[in-house]
Amino acid sequence: MRDAEPHPVRLADYRPPAWLVDTVHLDISLHPTATRVISRLALRRNPKGDAAAPVLLDGDGLTLVRLAVDGTPLAGGAYEASPQALILRHPPSDRFTLEVETLVDPTANTQLMGLYRSRDNYCTQCEPEGFRRITYFPDRSDVLAVYTVRVEASRAEAPVLLSNGNLERSGPIPDTDRHYAIWHDPWPKPSYLFALVGGNLSKVPDHFVTASGRPVDLGIYVEPGKEARATYAMDALKRSMRWDEKVFGREYDLDVFNIVAVSDFNMGAMENKGLNIFNDKYVLASPETATDTDYAGIESVIAHEYFHNWSGNRVTCRDWFQLCLKEGLTVFRDQEFSSDERSRPVKRISDVRTLKAAQFTEDAGPLSHPVRPESYHEINNFYTATVYEKGAEVVRMLKTLLGDEDFRAGMDLYYARHDGDAATIEDFLAAFAEASGRDLSQFALWYSQAGTPRVSAQGQFDPAARTYRLDIRQETPPTPAQPEKKPVVLPLAIGLIGPDGQDLPLTLDDGRNLPRHVIEVTQAEQSFVFTGIDARPVLSLNRGFSAPINLSTNLTDADLVFLAAHDRDPFNRFDALQGLAFRILKAGAASGTLPDAAPLIEAARLLLADPTLDPAFKAQALAIPGENEIAREIGSNVDPDAVFTARRALKRQLATALHGALEEAYAALAAPPPYSPGAAAAGRRALRNLALDYLTSGGAPEAIARAKAQFMAADNMTDRFAALAVLVQHDTPERAEALDDFYRRFVTDPLVIDKWLSLQAQIPEAGTLERVKDLTLLPVFSMANPNRVRALIGAFATANPTQFHRPDGAGHDFLVDVVLGLDAKNPQVAARMLSAFKTFRQLEPLRRASAERALRRVAATPGLSPDVTDIATRSLS
Ligand code: BES
Ligand code: ZN
Repeated sequence: MRDAEPHPVRLADYRPPAWLVDTVHLDISLHPTATRVISRLALRRNPKGDAAAPVLLDGDGLTLVRLAVDGTPLAGGAYEASPQALILRHPPSDRFTLEVETLVDPTANTQLMGLYRSRDNYCTQCEPEGFRRITYFPDRSDVLAVYTVRVEASRAEAPVLLSNGNLERSGPIPDTDRHYAIWHDPWPKPSYLFALVGGNLSKVPDHFVTASGRPVDLGIYVEPGKEARATYAMDALKRSMRWDEKVFGREYDLDVFNIVAVSDFNMGAMENKGLNIFNDKYVLASPETATDTDYAGIESVIAHEYFHNWSGNRVTCRDWFQLCLKEGLTVFRDQEFSSDERSRPVKRISDVRTLKAAQFTEDAGPLSHPVRPESYHEINNFYTATVYEKGAEVVRMLKTLLGDEDFRAGMDLYYARHDGDAATIEDFLAAFAEASGRDLSQFALWYSQAGTPRVSAQGQFDPAARTYRLDIRQETPPTPAQPEKKPVVLPLAIGLIGPDGQDLPLTLDDGRNLPRHVIEVTQAEQSFVFTGIDARPVLSLNRGFSAPINLSTNLTDADLVFLAAHDRDPFNRFDALQGLAFRILKAGAASGTLPDAAPLIEAARLLLADPTLDPAFKAQALAIPGENEIAREIGSNVDPDAVFTARRALKRQLATALHGALEEAYAALAAPPPYSPGAAAAGRRALRNLALDYLTSGGAPEAIARAKAQFMAADNMTDRFAALAVLVQHDTPERAEALDDFYRRFVTDPLVIDKWLSLQAQIPEAGTLERVKDLTLLPVFSMANPNRVRALIGAFATANPTQFHRPDGAGHDFLVDVVLGLDAKNPQVAARMLSAFKTFRQLEPLRRASAERALRRVAATPGLSPDVTDIATRSLS
C-alpha cells in the first residue's frame, strides 16, 4: 500500500507531460498469481514540455523483470526502479522505444484497482490511477496513446479474452493449452480507459447500425446462466446509442461495443473505450429479482457509461481536477436521457432529491469542495456528489441560461474543437461563450466556489401600482479554505400565478424581457418589478429547480397549498407539498408535538384525487420526507430520535385522514400480469406501494396481514420487496416469517440478498446493531465484496439515523471497526464507508461528540491508507 502523501496535488502546479507516448503494445499473459505484462512504449519528448526532464513512469506495487531501450536490454545503472516509479535519467534520444516487463498477482489484488480477479474471471479497473498497478506508465489523463493489446490465457480458464477496440486476430497457441486474442483501439486514449477481461463468460449478442450506416457488434458478457437477465441492459444500450445520435449528434466509432458484468467492483460501472466494465448490479435484471428502481438504475448507468464515449473518451480530461468535465456533463446527459425515456418531471424530482440528499449535505459539512477542486491528497475521494451531481446542475444551468439552441451549438463546438484532446473546464466554457456570444466569466464561479448559495426571495404586491416586486438576496456560506464568497449567476425560472391558477404574463418595469421565463440574478441583492398585475399573485420561483440553491421565500402555508394544487410546474407542485411537510416536521421535532397538519392533509387529498396526474408523480409528492431529509432541513442540533418520532406521527396522521382514498388507490392500481418495467406500470406500483405503506403505518393486524399477503403473492420483486419493506417496520411474527421466506427463496442470488441485508440494516429499532453484526457472520456476507459491504454496512450508516447515531456511540464504534478492518484490503471502499460521518456536525452535542471521538480513533490509527487518512483528516478539520 502507498503511504499517505504529506503534500497535496495542486491544480496550480499542472505542467504538460515531458514525454508523450504515441503507441502502446501490451502483451499480457494471464496467470492467477503471476501475470506477465510486456509493454512496448513509443516515447517521444513533448515539444511543449520540460526539455530536460527525465523519463518518469508511475508504478504502484510493481515488480520489474526486464527493461530494454530500442531493443537493447538496459544495464542496472541506467535506470532507477522501485514499486512506485521507473526513472530513466538519461534517455538515449528524444524518441525511442521502451520495453518493460513486469509481473503482477491478480489474485492478491483485493483493492479491485488494476488487474484483479472477480469470481474466477480476470478484469481491470484503471480509473483514476490503476494502470500503474499493471505496468510502468505516465499514468495521467493527458498522455493519449494508440493501444494494441495481445492477451493470452489458458483456454479452459479464460475462453473469453477481451480488450479495447476491435478484434484483430485470435486463435490457439500451438502445442499449449493456451490461446490468444489481439485487440486494436485506433482512438488515442489515456491509460485510465484501458481495459482487459479474461474468463468464462457468456455473450449476449446484438447488433446496431449507426445513423451513418456503421454496423456495430454489441455484446454483454455475463456469468453463464445469467444471459436472460441481460436483455433489459441490451435494450437500454441500443436506446442510448440512438438517443445520443438524435439529441447530441454523436455516433459510435468502433466496430464493437462490449459490456462485461462482474460481481466485485468498487463503483457502479466504468466507461473503458469499447469495453465497459460493470458492477453486475447495473446489468442483471429479471422481474423476479429486480425492482423498478433497479431497472431505472440499469437504464441510466448503461446510458451514462455509453455517453462517456464522447464526453470523457473522445474528449477527455487534462487532469483529475477536471473530473467534472466528464462526470458532471455525463450525469447531465444520462439525466436527460432518462427524462426523455420516462417522465421528465418525475425524473427531475428524483434527481433533485438525490442532489439535496447527497450534495447539499456534503456541501454543508467538512467535506465541502468546489465542483472543480483546487487540491487533493487522494483523487479517489473526489468522485463525489459535488463533482457528479452539482457538476450536472452546472451544465443544466448553462442550458437554461443559453437556451436549447445555443447550448447545442456550444456542445457541438466543444466536441469539434477538442476531439482527441485532454480538455479543461475553461475549454468547455469557452465553447459555450463563443457559440452564444455571452460572457461566462461570472458563471465560472460555479466551478470554483464551494457551498450551496442561500437565496431569499421576498415578494410584495402593490395593488395601487399594479406591480409585484421581488427582492432577491444571495449569500454563499463559508466553506473549508473559502471564507469569502462572491455572488454567483442564478438562473431562476419563475411564474406568477393569478387567483384563477393561471400563469400571468411577465413584464418587467425596465423593459428587460424574460427569455424562457427565467430571471438572471447576478448580484448579492437584486430586485425585479413586474407590471400590470391586477391581483395578488402567488410566486412560483426556481421552477424545475433551475438553480441548485437553498431558497427561502415569504410564501404562507395557504400559498403552498395553492401551489400544490395549481402550479403548472410539476416540480414546484411537489416542492410545495414537501415544504408544508417540512414546516410541520421541523416544528414537531423541535417541540415533541406536531402542529396542525390540516393544510398539508388538504393539499395531499386534492393531489391524490386528481385523475390527470401521473401516479409516479403522486407517489413522489405524497411521500413524507425521509429522516435524513428532515435532518438536513433542520440543519443543526439534530436529534435523530425526535426526527423519527415526528415523522412517524405525521405519517400516521396522514394515513388516518386519507384512509379512504388510500384504500381506493391500493385497490384501483393493482396491475394485471405480466410485469413490465416501463415507467407507466412502475408509477402505478410506486403509488400503490406507497398506499400500502401508509395503510400499514398504524400496525393494525389486518393491515400487516395484507402486507404479508402481498409479499407472498407478488409475481415481481418490486411488489414483493415493497411489502417486505413495510413489514420490517413492525416487530411482528409476520416480519420474521417474511424475512425467512425471502432468504430461502433468494439465498443463491447475491444481488437479491443485498436487498435483504439492506432492509434489515434499516430497521429503526434498538436491536438492529446486533442484528447487523450477526448478519456479517453469515456465509452470504463478505467484507471482500463491495456490494455486500454497501448493502449492509452502508445502509446502516447512511439510512438508519436513529441506530447509527445511537446515543451510546455503539453505532459509531461499529463503523470505525469496520473501516479499520477493511482499510488494508480495500481502502477505497473503507474511505467511502467512513464518509458516512460527513454530516456529523449537524447532530446534537452528545452524538456529535461521539462521532468526533470515533473519527479521532480512526485518525490516531497508524498505517492507514491515504484514502481513509484523507477522509478522517478533512472530516475533523
Ligand atoms: N468513470 C466512472 C467510474 C469510476 C468512478 C471509476 C470512480 C473510478 C473511480 C463512471 O463513469 C461513473 O461515473 N460511474 C458511476 C455511475 C454513474 C451512473 C454516475 C458509479 O460508478 O457510481
Ligand atoms: Zn461517469
